[in-house]
Amino acid sequence: MLSWRICRKAEPFDRLKEAHSLFLQRISKRTKASSLEKVGDDAQATDLETGFVNPWETSTLNGLIHKIKPQLVKYDGYHVSNKVFPGKANLSSLQNYSRNKIIEIGGRKYQMKGCAGQGGFAQVFKAFIDSNPDEVVALKVQKPPFPWEFHMYRQLDCRIPDSQRSSFGLAQRVHVYSDYSILVCDYLSHGTLQDVINSYVVVGKSMEEVLCMYYTIEMLNMLETLHSVGIIHGDFKPDNLLIRYPPENLTETGFHEKTGSWSKKGLCLVDWGRGIDLSLFPRTTEFTGDCRTSGFRCVEMKEDKPWKFQVDTYGLCVIVHMMLHNVYMEIEKKQSLDGGYINMPRTSFKRYWKVDLWKELFTKLLNRETCEDDTETLRNLRKSMEEYICSDPKLMKKLNELLAKQRISLCSS
Ligand SMILES: Nc1ncnc2c1ncn2[C@@H]1O[C@H](COP(=O)(O)OP(=O)(O)OP(=O)(O)O)[C@@H](O)[C@H]1O
Ligand SMILES: [Mg+2]
Repeated sequence: MLSWRICRKAEPFDRLKEAHSLFLQRISKRTKASSLEKVGDDAQATDLETGFVNPWETSTLNGLIHKIKPQLVKYDGYHVSNKVFPGKANLSSLQNYSRNKIIEIGGRKYQMKGCAGQGGFAQVFKAFIDSNPDEVVALKVQKPPFPWEFHMYRQLDCRIPDSQRSSFGLAQRVHVYSDYSILVCDYLSHGTLQDVINSYVVVGKSMEEVLCMYYTIEMLNMLETLHSVGIIHGDFKPDNLLIRYPPENLTETGFHEKTGSWSKKGLCLVDWGRGIDLSLFPRTTEFTGDCRTSGFRCVEMKEDKPWKFQVDTYGLCVIVHMMLHNVYMEIEKKQSLDGGYINMPRTSFKRYWKVDLWKELFTKLLNRETCEDDTETLRNLRKSMEEYICSDPKLMKKLNELLAKQRISLCSS
């Protein structure tokens, strides 16, 4: 499997720092103006009046973790210890070598099979439980310990219908020590959507339109489900979307209803560290704060406006743009028919694409004027794309062939 990534153009550090402090000043002014009570160490998020909150600020997260603590300790699979992580020394020697090394965590033995991914905050290892190759897990090792992600996973368990649960990653347990936390998740072996995009970049091509549309439908469906149950992912990017394939051969039936092999293939959203649980905030809360992920800052973040679901839908638009054009999305204000301006991607669509559908997607998702629920918009966009793919058996056949080809060329197992 290809392990390299498109290199993101990082913003100069000084500029970032300057922008960030300006942003914080503005937020603080607004916060005072609306006499917002911050979610701090002793504040309760549910006591908040209508206001703006930065959901990723340390004080907000500490306040939330404090608030959910009684619930957290009761979660199935939550293990806490006030000791340091005893496997620490073994872990640091794992970076470059020592495959098959056994590490004991919470009384279980994990046979380490190598590094599955390195994120900005954590390192993820592939491991077998008790040396059993049928029990493969991803161990997400994080310092300092961060139990929030586990809360998000348990909320997914409660709120997502069974038929869609496999699209969102599964956490088996978490071990929280005084210096590290180790999240144990089901392991998916087929790489990420970023790997798929990269495989096209490397040969100077971009993905076929029908394949782009298939993954777009998947992502629209995911966000529709998540947002309808009061969950925002907050870090919607292609390296957090793992690829799923069914164990059996691909069939052409069941696409529309997502049954048969179609229910087992698609995408799986992981990395819930920036997840937002809307049930912990008053319904009218809107968010401020910058994700600071270059290329994924939504229009509202750039324009210093509050946001809510836009953080995810903007991520979706960036990913669609990367699939279609192989480059990050740049936005420009284009004149609209009514004389105003709308946000649209700078790069134009190819003539032979299904342009009306792509235009509709970007127009609707990049120009939401409110922070209100967006599930209906997402559903309508998804349905039009599904109808288009189902309208022509040749498209469905091509999609199946492309997925089969992708599986052969990218999968190590
Ligand atoms: N369950 C899993 N199965 C297989 N690979 C995984 C799994 N979870 C994560 N990975 C791999 O590890 C990488 C890093 O994981 P993750 O995104 O959770 O970490 P992070 O440090 O929070 O990342 P980020 O830089 O996005 O903040 C992912 O991009 C993916 O390639
Ligand atoms: Mg990640």
